[in-house]
Amino acid sequence: MDRPWLDKDKPVGKRVELLLAAMTLEEKIGQTHQIHQRKDWDKSLIAKGLVGSLFNASGANAGNVRDEGVNARAINELQRMAVEQSRLGVPLIFARDVIHGHRTVFPIPLGQAATWNPELVRQGAEVTAREASADGVQWTFAPMVDVSRDPRWGRIAESFGEDPCLASRMAEAAVRGLQGDDPSAPDRIAACVKHFAGYAGAEGGRDYWENHCGERQMRDVYLPPFRAAVEAGVATVMSAFHVNDGVPASGDRHLLTDILRGEWGFDGFVVSDYGIVSELHSGHGVCESLKDAGELCINAGLDMDMMSGVYLKYMAELVAEGRVTQATLDEAVRRVLRVKFRFGLFEHPYADESKTAVTMLTAEHRACARRTAQESIVLLKNNGILPLQKAKGRLLVTGPLARARAELLGCWCLDGRGEDVVPVHEAVTKAAGEGCWVKTDNEAAFGDLTPVLARGCDAVIACVGEGPWRSGEGNSIASLELPAGQVEILKMVHGLGVPLVVVVFAGRPLALPWIAEHADALLYAWHPGVEGGHALADVLFGDANPGGRLPATLPRATGQVPIHYSHRPTHRPGTYWETSGWYKDMLHSPLYPFGHGLDYTTYEYTDLAVSPESAGMAETVRVSATVTNTGGHAGTEVVQLYVRDVKACVSRPVKELKGFRKALLAPGESSRVEFVLRSEDLMFTGPDNKPVVEAGEFEVWIGPDSTRGLQGTFRLTA
Ligand code: GLC
Repeated sequence: MDRPWLDKDKPVGKRVELLLAAMTLEEKIGQTHQIHQRKDWDKSLIAKGLVGSLFNASGANAGNVRDEGVNARAINELQRMAVEQSRLGVPLIFARDVIHGHRTVFPIPLGQAATWNPELVRQGAEVTAREASADGVQWTFAPMVDVSRDPRWGRIAESFGEDPCLASRMAEAAVRGLQGDDPSAPDRIAACVKHFAGYAGAEGGRDYWENHCGERQMRDVYLPPFRAAVEAGVATVMSAFHVNDGVPASGDRHLLTDILRGEWGFDGFVVSDYGIVSELHSGHGVCESLKDAGELCINAGLDMDMMSGVYLKYMAELVAEGRVTQATLDEAVRRVLRVKFRFGLFEHPYADESKTAVTMLTAEHRACARRTAQESIVLLKNNGILPLQKAKGRLLVTGPLARARAELLGCWCLDGRGEDVVPVHEAVTKAAGEGCWVKTDNEAAFGDLTPVLARGCDAVIACVGEGPWRSGEGNSIASLELPAGQVEILKMVHGLGVPLVVVVFAGRPLALPWIAEHADALLYAWHPGVEGGHALADVLFGDANPGGRLPATLPRATGQVPIHYSHRPTHRPGTYWETSGWYKDMLHSPLYPFGHGLDYTTYEYTDLAVSPESAGMAETVRVSATVTNTGGHAGTEVVQLYVRDVKACVSRPVKELKGFRKALLAPGESSRVEFVLRSEDLMFTGPDNKPVVEAGEFEVWIGPDSTRGLQGTFRLTA
């Protein structure tokens, strides 16, 4: 049969039309249907051309339950059914949740955000695409860019934290790393930005729960990272499970069509989250029947139905009854085919099975993961005990995560393996070198034996925190304190007067008031990935600086949550009696603020300049300052720019991150760091839900975190 769409010299648009014209109604519907490869399903559907995509994931256990993995041979077998047995030979697109690495596992996305280094995140995503594609994966359900401000929510681990600007830069980096400049290259995979949109606003941090936010919060907080991903060329978008003010995101035409396509011009396709099309009926109760749910979703702009089977079962009837027009179905199919052509699936539908073994966990890949982990570790407190001296002294490495392997990989880690991880105690022993006596106890001993072992040591390195099973999907928690018993053991060690270095491994911000007050040093290592043990040892002994800055606020207690820096001023900011932020039983300030992180050196900010001090809408404003390394170690400062719109037609946040830059400085070295603000950087959503930039006074800060810095002002004129 003549297949003119296979001519790769034809433009993609032309190839799509040629193929679409050749398809039957059933074959078109097939492209909108995605099946979970692991479930029981009728494989003959492939040869009939009734499947567009297969995906392979561990499901809601969020990668904490290892599945049989994914391999190129098995995928190629299924692909051959599509390409060689179906009438038109349209290839499947194979997906998997490759969220923060494949065999080379990087820090969880929240830890990657803590690097404040988009280029490093892009490199990690490039490594991930190279490895996943070698195993036959052609599409990943990442990056997840839900702006998360409630650490009770388990999925904050998968996010880039609380700030739209930081999350946007990370979203762009992840998309560019996964898809590359030439998405048709065999070692690139299609990205999928998720969960569109507002999922992280779940009331109470309860997963899947409703978000009550209005359009302004949606547009100014939750949508920017998605728009950034679209502008970076993301191939697909995943619609979310939840409802926003009662409207299901997966059936919301305003989101999926008016904004995503009408305002942003997105031309890839939208895939639903797992089974949500059917759950609009069975769960949210917004449809009388599954058929109604199919009608609502496809007409809203949801192009591919993950796993529910509603589109496959009812779409032909819906078209026949005129409830879904042929044009609507054709447009959904067009979008799916466009992505398949763009990613070269018609040219290279099969994975190169010879590449798998040579591609995984190379020294280069491990080095990238180690650099990322080093830069993700946040030094929250240090009384000078760090960096530790090598080749001398007696150290005790203890705690429930001192010997951890798989736990360091974090949630949503389907193909990482614990045996690839060097645990902390081994890495510290190796890094400490001869002459340093490193004791360790097994995790069972982290208890009444620990003080006995700690006696006589020069320092105790206590690896505490939570395992990945409290992170990721369906894993919210109601109390942000450390798991029971950990602080009590730390208190016993502290009571001996032995210097205490606490390392927290977590998939979220936790509340650590006692540790913050009593530890000699406190490091936050998130779940740092396959090289996390080595990276931590590098930081402990000063072979690498702790490069991280907080991507999310650390609260004093669960009761403060949700808590973030970019809040609105309220009507009585600051006066004691009426102050709206203060609890009577606790300070309103966080334990550690967004953007905070120390280094092994110190920095000074001087000479803020804002020019011009009055600018028209078409002009730019340059904000600069000098940053000096005033300490004895080389270091990398994360210079942050914040802005406040002092008076506006709606109440505006007291601060918003508008830019950041990492400055590597030798001892005594200074660097002039400049940011350029355009009027569109000051845009927000007005009372009519339209974007607006208003003339008026703006405050700016350049500093080390969201609470400190040199302050200036400028005026924007109409
Ligand atoms: C899950 C998650 C989503 C994931 C999908 C496929 O329920 O919500 O993030 O990509 O299903 O595993």
